[in-house]
Amino acid sequence: MFSFSKCNLYTYFFLVHIFTLPGLSIQKSINENEAPCNPLGDPQRDQYIVGYGSLIKTSSKNRTYKNTGENMPVLITGYSREWNCKGVSASLSTTYLGIVPRRNGTLNGVIFKIPNSDALEAYDERELFYCREEVEKEKISLLVSLNQTPAKLPSGQFWIYVTKPQYTAFPTPEYPLVQSYVDTFLSGCLEIQAKHSLENFADDCIRTTEGWNHPWINDRIFPRRPFVHEPDAGKIDKLISKHLPKHFKTIKFEK
Ligand SMILES: *[C@@H]1O[C@H](CO)[C@@H](O)[C@H](O)[C@H]1NC(C)=O
Ligand SMILES: *[C@@H]1O[C@H](CO)[C@@H](O)[C@H](O)[C@H]1NC(C)=O
Repeated sequence: MFSFSKCNLYTYFFLVHIFTLPGLSIQKSINENEAPCNPLGDPQRDQYIVGYGSLIKTSSKNRTYKNTGENMPVLITGYSREWNCKGVSASLSTTYLGIVPRRNGTLNGVIFKIPNSDALEAYDERELFYCREEVEKEKISLLVSLNQTPAKLPSGQFWIYVTKPQYTAFPTPEYPLVQSYVDTFLSGCLEIQAKHSLENFADDCIRTTEGWNHPWINDRIFPRRPFVHEPDAGKIDKLISKHLPKHFKTIKFEK
């Protein structure tokens, strides 16, 4: 009769070891073939991620890795931010924010320092619809409020996530903008605006994003009392109606 003796346990671990490790490495090389776009960071330099969507919001950024540096507001040139990232999924989905290289493009966002390569890998996993590419320092400048002296960008290697070609698509009724993600984005912008006493940071988040004219669904939890779940709902709605009055009226509930 089979008994789970110590000897069997050793056999068990041996077999698990033998069969799972090669499996993992095969899995990894397949992924690497699919995404040859997330290069290793230079271990000699400090590593920074440039966030321009949900990563602007500290609590959302923290969910992926706990011990990153503080989000610092920046202006980025050479890219445009647009609703262009199709969130392919087996269930109901959405279009996320993405960026495209554009010579005269500009957008606001944040930079934050990442402590190690595990963190970089964790963010790569989070941003699976995107390729991480290096941004030249010249394209990034720190934003400070009027009464502060301009600060120099820290030295290091800067990375930004660009929508992969196979996921690049504008929103459709099947992949609309969804308010819950707009809320994460804009509440993050309001957070940075308040923390750094910047006057128009949240306004600029809307102004430097293209594609608000696409189908837009209100999927808020408690849509008639959204502040229950999203404390900034009132401020967010005010921002949207100020900058996008036409689109604000067309945000739909799902039937
Ligand atoms: C995010 O994580 C940092 C530690 O890395 C912590 O100091 C901060 O309070 C966290 N903030 C939020 C909003 O979760
Ligand atoms: C930026 O360039 C695009 C073409 O790449 C053009 O359509 C757009 O009008 C330009 N914007 C400005 C502000 O010059």
